[in-house]
Amino acid sequence: MKALIASGGRGTRLRPITHTQNKHLIPIANKPILHYAIEAATGAGIKEIAIVHNADSDEVPKAIGDGSRWGVRITYIPQLVPGGLSQVVALSEKFMGRDKFIFYLGDNMVVGGVKRFVDEFERSGCNCFLTLAKVKDPERFGVPEIKDGRIVSVEEKPKNPKSSFAVSGIYLYDSCIFEAVKAIKPSARGELEISDAHQYLIDKGYKVGYAEITGWWKDTGKPNDLLEANRLVLDNITPTIDGSVDNHSTVSGKVVIGKGARIVNSIVRGPAIIGENCVIEDAYVGPFTAVGNNTVIRKSEVEYSIILRDCKILSIGIRLEGSILGNDVEVVEGTGKPRVHRFMIGDQSRVEVV
Ligand code: G1P
Repeated sequence: MKALIASGGRGTRLRPITHTQNKHLIPIANKPILHYAIEAATGAGIKEIAIVHNADSDEVPKAIGDGSRWGVRITYIPQLVPGGLSQVVALSEKFMGRDKFIFYLGDNMVVGGVKRFVDEFERSGCNCFLTLAKVKDPERFGVPEIKDGRIVSVEEKPKNPKSSFAVSGIYLYDSCIFEAVKAIKPSARGELEISDAHQYLIDKGYKVGYAEITGWWKDTGKPNDLLEANRLVLDNITPTIDGSVDNHSTVSGKVVIGKGARIVNSIVRGPAIIGENCVIEDAYVGPFTAVGNNTVIRKSEVEYSIILRDCKILSIGIRLEGSILGNDVEVVEGTGKPRVHRFMIGDQSRVEVV
């Protein structure tokens, strides 16, 4: 069993953060999203992983490395032009050989890992095994039609979904998938859709099974998805305090405070994570907040937000909430109104709050 992880694409729905950063490297609870995919594969006992990445950037190979830190071997496959998920699979044919593999979209997150799906796939003797999650907005995803416990069709982003399931970005295949991805034609949006490859397998009579993801699953394609994933991961963190907390501060709930970080005359209410060398002074950091390394929050309140590294949040009159700040962002005191703040700010931005 091998793994194929997709880390390409432009992340247009997460601009401006993705102007300067690959979306798969955006941190959730201070850890790049892509790490969760790699850890899912290693947690299932997989030792050989291929990552498909944008050919015009070495950002992902540089950030992730050769896999030795996870005790696995990572091979990089460049994708010259984004051409859909079936193209990503096709690019991996040589690497996979005749082995079975898990195809994991690097921006998907699932709690509890994927070992149970790998085991079920192996037991089932299926050629293709899909994982399904109940969602409120199936029209955003690949949607299966299920009759008598079997998938009879899969449609990509249908206007009239035939079920309330999304096909999640965690797929299991044997080498039959290569026949499918080579046979299909580009869709109206010009992509080789993964759903069309699944439909091909169904039409040709291959065995396509499925399992339902009953815990939480997230496709982190949009800002709110990132915040939700951050919330869910933080909910399960193990508290550790490596930094310093002075006598005038209160730290409660599950909180991680990194090395060299200082909490001065402040309240930190978990679940939250404060990165290394941060300064939190005369401030409040509320539940579901992740603060990257070297960030300063002074005379301000932040809750349910993702703040990347080297930011400055200083003397803000109104609590920052539901916000995502890129690297090196400054949000500083302004004057006047309005009284609500909701930001998505790219790297090296500076905002004055009124
Ligand atoms: C892709 C797939 C879709 C699947 C989704 C899961 O959509 O095309 O079938 O349901 O991933 O994350 P995209 O995220 O490219 O819109």
